[in-house]
This record gives sequence, structure tokens and C-alpha cells, in this order.
Amino acid sequence: SGAVSSLQQVIRPSTYGEDEYADVDWDNLGFGITPADYMYINQSTKDGEFHQGQLSRYGALELSPAAGVLNYGQGLYEGTKAYRKEDGRLLVFRPDQNALRMKMGADRICMPCPSVDQFVDAVKQVALANKRWTPPPGKGTMYIRPLLMGSGPIMGLAPAPEYTFLIYCSPVGNYFKGFAPLNLYVEDEFHRATRGGAGGVKSITNYAPVLKAIARAKGNGYSDVLYLDSVHKRYLEEVSSCNIFVLKGRVISTPAAIGTILQGVEERAVAVDELAEADEVFCTGTAVGVASVASITYQGKRLEYKVGAETVAQQLYSILEGIKSGAIEDKKGWVVEI
Ligand code: COI
Repeated sequence: SGAVSSLQQVIRPSTYGEDEYADVDWDNLGFGITPADYMYINQSTKDGEFHQGQLSRYGALELSPAAGVLNYGQGLYEGTKAYRKEDGRLLVFRPDQNALRMKMGADRICMPCPSVDQFVDAVKQVALANKRWTPPPGKGTMYIRPLLMGSGPIMGLAPAPEYTFLIYCSPVGNYFKGFAPLNLYVEDEFHRATRGGAGGVKSITNYAPVLKAIARAKGNGYSDVLYLDSVHKRYLEEVSSCNIFVLKGRVISTPAAIGTILQGVEERAVAVDELAEADEVFCTGTAVGVASVASITYQGKRLEYKVGAETVAQQLYSILEGIKSGAIEDKKGWVVEI
């Protein structure tokens, strides 16, 4: 068949490692791949149904060269994080929301999708099986990466005949090096997404097209790129790796989700000119967390913003990290304990 198969043997839960911690330099974690012990694979049936998935050793996949994902980009990814609590339990933040976002994406690019329960259960299995790779409290998190892909072979442009839902993970530290506020560059040549495209879902095809803009900006010393809408080149969209929020007085604004960006909170069109008036700007994302923006450069002009302990971004960061890590009481029922 043209489906994915792991080259590694399937592992039964009784063979999980017993050590409390893997041999990792926890004080020097970046946002990179540190291979953990296990990954999860669930192969759809020919009818696109997902039944029982399984854990196997983390390792290479065997995939048909004609797989839909390799040829036509039929794939989605998600990202969530597990936190190790002081009492040793693992916490995951709103994994059902990742499952629902994957469902929306699957619908957009014509894939069957595991149920919310299957998704959340698989995230739990991966987190538990790799517990010894989860950083100690305060040292980082376990980044969990679910993938859904057309793994069956297809020659003409059409949905693949079979699908694979897979989850792997890696211990990570900060997405951006150090903890310094970001210096963003407003890109006006390349766009991340366009109206009617797939920018509103986490299609893997949204990411490679911005690598050039990121490389150029990083080469010039910026942390990341802020994209404008492709129609007017005037409204903010998002940053390559996260969403953006602009604070003026007591109001926080974030670009409206109109199908080109991933969803944020209070949403409206935010014009690039408003950046000149903002008091504070910050970014949010699973990988990034909450990150203050120190400066934004647009058409050769560098705008600077308030950063540091007194900012709204810092308060949001502390509260959100507190809830996610179990240090602050979760009154919303957002945190799932494993
Ligand atoms: C995440 O925050 O999980 C993302 O999808 C961003 C990615 C570039 C690491």
C-alpha cells in the first residue's frame, strides 16, 4: 500500500522507560528537535476512517513517493505543549481546540480527520510515553506536533486514497533565542496568504512560501517578519510564527480572521499606519508563547514600543504561563491533567 508505515516496531506501554528524566541539558534548550522515545501513528482505512492508533519508537517513516502530501501538499500540522507540574503531573492546554482546528483544516483540504476524542487521547499517549523528555518545571516544555497527511499514492490532482494521523514531540525552550523582545520587519513584497487561500487553517503549504522573507529579515538582524494583506498591502495579517496584537491606551486590537490568518481575540482590520500610534505590540502563539515586540521596521522607518515588567504583554505572559504550568488556578477548565 502507499500508506505510511513506521520502520520501527510497535511498543507496548509496559516497556516505557522508567527513568524520571532523559539525559538532556535542560538549561540550554532551544526550539529544536531532540528526538524523544515514541511517536503515535494512526493509519486511516481505505474509506478514510480512523480506528485504533498506536505508539511506536520515534523514527523514520516509509512513505510512497507518490503520496499526496509529498506531491500536492495535502497536509496539516498542529502544535501544543505539555508542562511538567511541580508535583510531577503533566498538563496540556486546551488540546480539544487543536483538534477542532485540525478538523476545520481537514475539511478545507479534503482530508478525513480523527475525532476530537481520538486526537486528545493521542496527545495524552504521546505526552505520557515521552514523559522523561518533558523538561523540569520552569526549564521549558514538551512541544507536541500532530500531523495529518494524505499518505496514499495519487497521480492526478485529487485527494489521496489514504491518510495518516501522526504525533511526535520534542522538549523545547524559547522559540526566539533568549528572552529579548522581538524586532519585526514588515514585509511588502511577499505575502503569507491570500483571500480564498488556505491561510486560515494550518496547512503545511502556508509555511515554505515565507521562508525567503524570513531568511532575508533574519539576515538583516530582525527576529521575524510581519505580513500585510495581499489585496491592499495595508492591513496587518500575522507574523510567520505567531499572531500579532497592538495595544493603544486600554484597547488591544488584533487582525480580523477573514480566512487568511489563524484566529485571535478582539478582531478588526488593523492598518499598518496604526503601528505608529501604538503603545505596545506583542505576539502570541503556541511555540512563541507571549512575546513583546521592541520595534517594527516599515518602509525604512523603525518604530519602537514599550517593553519590560510593566507591559500588558508581560502580565498576560505571567498569567497564561501560570495557568498552563499549574501555578495559577485554572478557572476556565482549559488545562488537561495527564
Ligand atoms: C506553533 O506555535 O505551534 C506554530 O505553529 C508555529 C511554528 C512556526 C512553530
